[in-house]
Amino acid sequence: MATEQEERGALIVFEGLDRSGKSTQAKRLVEKIINSGRMAVLQAFPDRQSPVGEMIDRYLRGEIDMDEHALHLLFSADRFLKKKMIKQHIAQGVDVVCDRYCYSGVSYSLAKGLPEEWVRVTDQGLPKPDIVLFFQVSPEVAAARGGFGNERLETAELQAKVGKIMPTLRDDAFWKSVNADGTPDAVEKEVFQLYKELDRSQPLEVLEKI
Ligand code: TYD
Ligand code: MG
Repeated sequence: MATEQEERGALIVFEGLDRSGKSTQAKRLVEKIINSGRMAVLQAFPDRQSPVGEMIDRYLRGEIDMDEHALHLLFSADRFLKKKMIKQHIAQGVDVVCDRYCYSGVSYSLAKGLPEEWVRVTDQGLPKPDIVLFFQVSPEVAAARGGFGNERLETAELQAKVGKIMPTLRDDAFWKSVNADGTPDAVEKEVFQLYKELDRSQPLEVLEKI
């Protein structure tokens, strides 16, 4: 049996709508993992710091226009450019916590009306998450958390569409719902409980279908 040191890292993905608390909780989880004696890194998608992420960032902030297919591919490319880093960390026992992943990619592009079959293939081959923490926030609570920002995709209309589409991507085998209406401490507790239940006995898998 593997000792704790020999255990591989886990790939943990946070998904959900804007204002569901993903970023706060992803950060808290990384801190909590480190405090509990393991190693963990946080990776936000898009990675606005990278050359590809910078192009996405400029689009989101309305600085440049872009063909929607090209944008979708850039979001996917941004993730593939992190594939090596993710695999290396996991092999070394480091947990990788992602703030959004390909399920955002698929949901937002479908909400914009891109062809379904095409949208669903461009992330195939990425490392498969061990767990997707699906943050579910009620519209009332989300609204109480303040207005949308002024980035290009932050409109009530698009968010409503994404809110309908994302749950249809759910795979019960590795998606867990998190009640994101709770207090930050309550959500943190729920997330850490799910984290502790992770099974690391099998090798990291490759994402085949979305
Ligand atoms: P977001 O997580 O909101 O970034 P930040 O926390 O810096 O505000 O992501 C930016 C936007 O990009 C958000 O509206 C969702 C969208 N998005 C896609 O359309 N496709 C993707 O593949 C990803 C990862 C995000
Ligand atoms: Mg945002």
